[in-house]
Amino acid sequence: MADEAGYLDRILTIELGRCTEAAAIAASTMIGRGDKEGADQAAVTALRNALNQLSIDGTVVIGEGERDEAPMLYIGEKVGRGGPKVDIALDPLEGTTLTAKAMANSLAVVAMAQGGTLLHSPDVYMQKIACGPGYPKGTIDLDAPTEDNIAALAKAKGVDPSEITLCVLDRPRHDHIIEAARKMNARVFLISDGDVAGIFHTTEPRTGIDLYVGSGGAPEGVLAAAALRCVGGQMQGRLLFRNDDERARAERAGITDLDRKYDLMDLASGDVMFAATGVTDGSMLKGVRWEGKRVHTSTLVMRSKTGTVRYIDATSQRPDR
Ligand code: FBP
Repeated sequence: MADEAGYLDRILTIELGRCTEAAAIAASTMIGRGDKEGADQAAVTALRNALNQLSIDGTVVIGEGERDEAPMLYIGEKVGRGGPKVDIALDPLEGTTLTAKAMANSLAVVAMAQGGTLLHSPDVYMQKIACGPGYPKGTIDLDAPTEDNIAALAKAKGVDPSEITLCVLDRPRHDHIIEAARKMNARVFLISDGDVAGIFHTTEPRTGIDLYVGSGGAPEGVLAAAALRCVGGQMQGRLLFRNDDERARAERAGITDLDRKYDLMDLASGDVMFAATGVTDGSMLKGVRWEGKRVHTSTLVMRSKTGTVRYIDATSQRPDR
């Protein structure tokens, strides 16, 4: 009989896309309604239901928060109907504000890997740097000045630094990064939210983004790393703590070296499957479109074992609408 585990992997990758489709469809009913919590809740409920249909013995390792603060999809929650043991990292709605304000690039995102291979990151900030595939290892460095990273990437790409586009979350804490990029005459692509998409964009030449720099959610960092594992690229991250409570969260998650600099393989080391469905329109995925009772979705599914990337455009019937 053909390799049973390999077959299951292939099926599960596609099934994961079904799960993000369900979350995105649910969230889409809340686009532009100014209610980010409501949008998130709709996505959480739908994603949890969908994950519970899968033949897996899944544990949520990156989820909606710790057990006492999140009733569903909390860290440690078991999902699935039984099957192979897997870790699940998820963000049912990455870009809650983007959805509430009907702005571009909100996604439903899930990554899955063998148990123990995704960083069990606490919900704190992470300092991040990432670039796409095809450059020599070590081209970018989290601890190097932004100017040096732009120069190194430009050299590796064989272009002038002015031809490099850096993506960063538009936050006052990133003013020094923006200033450094401007000094190098590089282009700066500012995003208001959604750094999973921001980091993933470095892997897609059609987005024009070469480099991602800045701090954002640590869970989003692990999800972005899982995506990069499937398509290649470089990424480094370090957890950032604002107070003792956040340090305690990290310790509870089993992290002993709080200053550790994580490489891509430290963030997501196993065979990873990744799925994302657009909620609002984005540069890589179209958002959910309704036509009467029919709903159209655009989903990306991929896995690191084979490096296969699939875009799935689906239409389904929603008689309940
Ligand atoms: P939500 O989906 O929870 O709204 O998070 C969106 C996001 O922009 C992430 O993509 C990013 O990592 C984080 O928030 C940035 O945090 P902050 O808004 O505090 O700078």
